[in-house]
Amino acid sequence: MALLNISGLTTVFETATGPVGAVDGASFTLEAGEVLGLVGESGSGKSVSAFSILRLINPPGKIIGGRVEFGGRDLLSLAPREMRAVRGKDISMIFQEPLSSLNPVQTIGAQVMEPLLIHTSIGKRKARDRALAMLYRVGIPDAESRFDVYPHQLSGGLRQRVMIALALVCEPKILIADEPTTALDVTIQAQILALLKDLQSELGMAILLITHDLGVIAEVADRVAVMYAGQIVESAPVQAIFDDTAHPYAAALINSIPDRTRQARRLIAVKGNIPDPRHLPPGCRFAPRCGFAQPSCVTTVQKLTAVDPTHATACMRVQAGELPRPIPTLTPELPHG
Ligand SMILES: Nc1ncnc2c1ncn2[C@@H]1O[C@H](COP(=O)(O)OP(=O)(O)OP(=O)(O)O)[C@@H](O)[C@H]1O
Ligand SMILES: [Mg+2]
Repeated sequence: MALLNISGLTTVFETATGPVGAVDGASFTLEAGEVLGLVGESGSGKSVSAFSILRLINPPGKIIGGRVEFGGRDLLSLAPREMRAVRGKDISMIFQEPLSSLNPVQTIGAQVMEPLLIHTSIGKRKARDRALAMLYRVGIPDAESRFDVYPHQLSGGLRQRVMIALALVCEPKILIADEPTTALDVTIQAQILALLKDLQSELGMAILLITHDLGVIAEVADRVAVMYAGQIVESAPVQAIFDDTAHPYAAALINSIPDRTRQARRLIAVKGNIPDPRHLPPGCRFAPRCGFAQPSCVTTVQKLTAVDPTHATACMRVQAGELPRPIPTLTPELPHG
């Protein structure tokens, strides 16, 4: 049994020009203690998926289908009060921009204490001790004297460490990290990733790590789910994504990394654009950009299907054994960024 089992998750935004399907039938699992990388181009639905799991989608957005099973319950059918008890305690989240997610008028110490005061019955004194210990643990130097400072008094890297302390202080089973290092400079990025890895092995939580950086994925993830236009198109153990690629989109993503090293991390650039969510092909959404597409790809609805016990792809041509694995890339593209 997976720790978190997401199936058919569907979230739309009502816009002036009609509904936009941001996440459309996404299915993936998160196993206890693993790091699952969720990767895909900008606009593919990664953040909306994360917010949907925690039911933090606000109007005009709406979750219209699917299940998010956790601990034998479907989070999508919990009462708001029950959901609040899960959020920050069993499942917590850190965001790309720590300044906008920390409260600017509350001290960092008080903010890290808050989840303990909400979700546990320990008193203020104990909560302060635990918050302080957590601030030290995430690498805030001299946390004692920084306990009462405000977020703006800290550097971006330290603020992200405070966010991590806040997310982990109740020792959740799942941490959702949405581009946790994108806003930081490269040296700090590496430090924060190393910290997350350390904390993960120490506390044993599972991490859903959202990123467009396959370099980060290669370094930190155990498994990968590749998202395209609101759907999961491939999922596999991290090594298999690189060595046994089973979806042409994943192949194009991998090909767009100039060099899988830290120094050379770039934003992903694949030829063409993700489709306008209002005008999607009825079949494979990647078909218009795919070098392997046949006319039937555009019209046939394709379903994420296991091709190995641990490897699933939505490409019907791979499922039919018509394409070699790893899938070669037909048109090498130069990345920008
Ligand atoms: N509040 C909103 N109103 C309308 N559409 C939205 C809203 N939020 C997200 N969307 C749409 O949902 C789709 C998925 O967006 P999402 O933010 O999940 O992408 P992402 O994969 O996280 O991208 P990025 O890598 O840039 O963070 C996009 O088409 C986006 O325009
Ligand atoms: Mg996002």
